[in-house]
This record gives sequence, structure tokens and C-alpha cells, in this order.
Amino acid sequence: MNRLLWICVLILLGFTASYETRDVEAQPEGKQGRDLYRIHCLECHGAEGRGDGPRAALLAPRPGNLVSAATSTKTDEELLEILANGVPRTAMHGWSDQLSEEQRRNVLAYVRTLVHFHDLSSPPSPGP
Ligand code: HEC
Repeated sequence: MNRLLWICVLILLGFTASYETRDVEAQPEGKQGRDLYRIHCLECHGAEGRGDGPRAALLAPRPGNLVSAATSTKTDEELLEILANGVPRTAMHGWSDQLSEEQRRNVLAYVRTLVHFHDLSSPPSPGP
């Protein structure tokens, strides 16, 4: 078969994998936060929140890495303030006219779920 076609199929599979379902599905507000993130934030901040969305390379300053220590150690109040009012002199405008306060909270809750802590050196837990 045409090699180019195979490459396209593999790229598509890669994209599908990066959209894997997370446990946020369990709660409706978690799902809403995820959907809002994908619609409004992914293009700049990337599917995993690393600041590598499709538009990121065209922006100066680049969008923040939302799973970085610098962002994830900020309090909910600080991040909600940024979500409402934006970051001056960047492409990050405020969202208060497009998203309700509840929607901003849900999208922030989703951003929080993107931060995972892995301790690769810890041994696997013993089986039952
Ligand atoms: C047009 C591109 C763009 C879009 C869309 C966008 N952002 Fe941003 N965002 C940025 C840029 C640029 C910054 C500023 C760089 C920085 O603060 O690291 C930023 C900063 C932030 C910060 C502050 C990070 C920090 O540590 O101060 C948060 C939180 C954030 N964005 C969340 C979001 C969320 C949630 C959405 C969707 C509702 C969103 N952004 C949509 C470009 C974007």
C-alpha cells in the first residue's frame, strides 16, 4: 500500500491516543471542563497543557506550560484571576466575557488533572 497513506494513518492514531479518555469522564463538570479546554485552550496550551498547542510557535511570548511548577503551585484564586482577566501584553486575554465563573472553575479543575506526579523509582505495589 501507499507508504504516505500509512504515515497519515499512524499520525492520526497518534492524535487519537493523545485524546485518551481520562477519569474526568466520571463527573459532568469534569467532562465540561475538559470539553471547554479542548475548544478554547488546547490550540495554545496543547492537549497535555505543556504550552505546545498548534498556535504556540506563532506567539510571543509563548503560552505557558500549565503543568510546570511555576503554574501548578499557584493557588486556585490566582489562576482564576488570570482566567478571568488574562495576562497583560500576551495573547492570553481574559475569559470572563466568554466563560461563566462556573465554566472557568471547571476548566481550571481540568487543568489541575493534567498535572501528574510520577515516582518512577518506587517499586510496583505488591499484588493481592
Ligand atoms: C491565543 C493563545 C491562548 C489561548 C487560546 C489560551 N491561552 Fe492561556 N496563555 C497564553 C499565553 C501567551 C500566556 C502567557 C504566558 C504565561 O503566562 O506563561 C497564557 C497564560 C495562561 C495562564 C497563566 C500561567 C501562569 O503560571 O501564570 C493560565 C492559567 C492559562 N493561560 C490558562 C488558559 C486556559 C484555561 C485557557 C482556555 C480557557 C487559555 N489559557 C487559553 C495563551 C493562550
